[in-house]
Amino acid sequence: MTEPDEATDERPGRAEGVDLREPSAWAERYDAGDTPWDCGGPHPEIARRIASGELAPTGGRRALVPGCGRGHDALALARAGWTVTAVDFAPGLAAELGPALAALGGEFVEANALEWQGEPVDLVLEHTFHCALPPTERPRWAALVARALRPRGTLAVLVFPADKPVSEGGPPHRTETAELSALLAPAFELVADEAVEQPLERRQWLERWARFRRTSDGA
Ligand SMILES: C[S@@+](CC[C@H](N)C(=O)[O-])C[C@H]1O[C@@H](n2cnc3c(N)ncnc32)[C@H](O)[C@@H]1O
Repeated sequence: MTEPDEATDERPGRAEGVDLREPSAWAERYDAGDTPWDCGGPHPEIARRIASGELAPTGGRRALVPGCGRGHDALALARAGWTVTAVDFAPGLAAELGPALAALGGEFVEANALEWQGEPVDLVLEHTFHCALPPTERPRWAALVARALRPRGTLAVLVFPADKPVSEGGPPHRTETAELSALLAPAFELVADEAVEQPLERRQWLERWARFRRTSDGA
């Protein structure tokens, strides 16, 4: 089954005149309930991998979720024992997500995630933030991840849309593991590049799962 996708737009012209670097453009989408990227809960594959223990807070408890949206994935991590900092620049998300995360020992920060500075974390979870950024911002995304993660920390990625032709533009812009590897080199090693067992059925493009480890010296 396919429906008009996704994070943020697959319908021609729908984003015309809207600069998705502007928080207000995203806030309008949330206010209008026009959020086809929103899973309504944690992405099923992320939930599955949390339940399996793959994303258990064993090597440290601090997690960062940039571009968290309504925070479903962030809340799932917090319920699994992570101390989560969730960041999104869209005004209006804080009212609900802030108290919900605080009740689980985490925090929501309304800010440009690409400028995030804070104590290094043990896990960064990426889900449809990278693909929503203008491709010219991708080096800043990689710099954020490198800055945020402690040595040996994990970057977990729900890779999407992995098979969308670049010529179709975006958002969502094609995001694939090989490109992430190149972007993150040499400070990260790829430790998993796997099929998704529980994809979000309505997505019309391929999802994959990747995990990277920040090398010990960050070099
Ligand atoms: C496609 S949505 C995905 C939201 C969430 N990850 C999810 O899966 O539901 C992209 C999110 O990134 C946020 N965003 C885009 N650029 C951002 C930036 N530079 N800093 C913080 N948030 C940003 C938007 O406000 C939006 O909530």
